[in-house]
Amino acid sequence: MSGGGAWLARAEALSERLVSVRRRLHRFPELSFEERETARIVAERLTGLGLSCRTGVGGHGVVADIVGDPAGPVVALRADMDALPIAEETGLPFASERPGAMHACGHDAHTAMLLGAAELLTEERAKLKGTVRLVFQSAEEINEGAKAMIEAGVLDGVDEIYGLHNLPTLSAGLTSVRPGPLMGSVDRIEIAVEGKGAHGAIPDQGIDPIVCASAIVLSLQSLVSRETSPFDPVVVTIGSIRAGEANNVIPSACTMTGTVRAFDPEVRRELSGRIERVVTRIAEGYRCRASVTYIRQTAVLVNDAEAARRVGEAIDAVAGADRRLTAAPTLAGEDFSEYLKHVPGCFFWLGSGPERDAEHAFGLHHPRYELNEACLPLGAALLAGIAASRLEEGPLHEPQAAGEGGISP
Ligand code: NI
Repeated sequence: MSGGGAWLARAEALSERLVSVRRRLHRFPELSFEERETARIVAERLTGLGLSCRTGVGGHGVVADIVGDPAGPVVALRADMDALPIAEETGLPFASERPGAMHACGHDAHTAMLLGAAELLTEERAKLKGTVRLVFQSAEEINEGAKAMIEAGVLDGVDEIYGLHNLPTLSAGLTSVRPGPLMGSVDRIEIAVEGKGAHGAIPDQGIDPIVCASAIVLSLQSLVSRETSPFDPVVVTIGSIRAGEANNVIPSACTMTGTVRAFDPEVRRELSGRIERVVTRIAEGYRCRASVTYIRQTAVLVNDAEAARRVGEAIDAVAGADRRLTAAPTLAGEDFSEYLKHVPGCFFWLGSGPERDAEHAFGLHHPRYELNEACLPLGAALLAGIAASRLEEGPLHEPQAAGEGGISP
């Protein structure tokens, strides 16, 4: 088996190909559950490597196994493939040619990196002490792809799973990893407030849902500041409010949507009831009727401590210990957390920003987000190196059943 550094040297040799496939995907981004062409390109490349693929898995997902020793463990590597409904403003020569769609989260690069890792691992296939399962996933951005892939059985027989996300505010060449919770849970709330319409000049003849909704928005913040420990990060953001058409009419109803983030599965569990209480009781006080729909989308992403330690070792071997930082936690979400509810593994950050002043780069999901393509070979080398070294060492744990956050951090 290649030593750690050899993976990077071999990945560097694939650079041009990685850049070209990434740019091709970047020009023609496809939104969640619409990744037909992307999946076709992925399947074509994998078939070209002599792998047999399952396509149409959990949407347009593509899954292929690189089988070394068939009796060994199975380590999965995952990349997401979908783009965002954002109009690109980078002005790059290979900018999106699909109006209103953009690879603003770099999933084009994740796909290219996993294809690169597939190529590196296939060349070493005879030496692999187990199987590497490549998982190209649909619909990460709407938090549905991972669940659909799991339902379709991609984790069957899998012992561990690994994945990465590029980070433009970290310079290319650097990585960061963290044991335990890395990213927050993601839940959606939909609030409907019902009042009674009236002339804007005669409010006493109606029941104003906008004043009530305003009170609800402000009071929801007290759940964060007054009901949650200051040591437990929580975010409640109301992102849309819709009511009324005319400046002088009190409308009969107001609807709002929001996102709720937490970092501790216990804290998350408490929030839905608390939100319901605040919304309905405040509405009562304003003579309105209100209801809350609480949609649990993505769990807290909890890295297995041992898996995170092994990823750290693999990064040190492939890239050098000076390339590895400790990741700060974030309340951004990732549906990779769904896989980690079932099998241990680790998700980590790969720097994709400029060499200097990366902290000022446009962030993920920004219309001017750009990815430093120098990160592509390192991403491919790390994925390959992690999978190969994990197979070399044998499984981390005896198989275990895990609920949300049930894998010991
Ligand atoms: Ni993303």
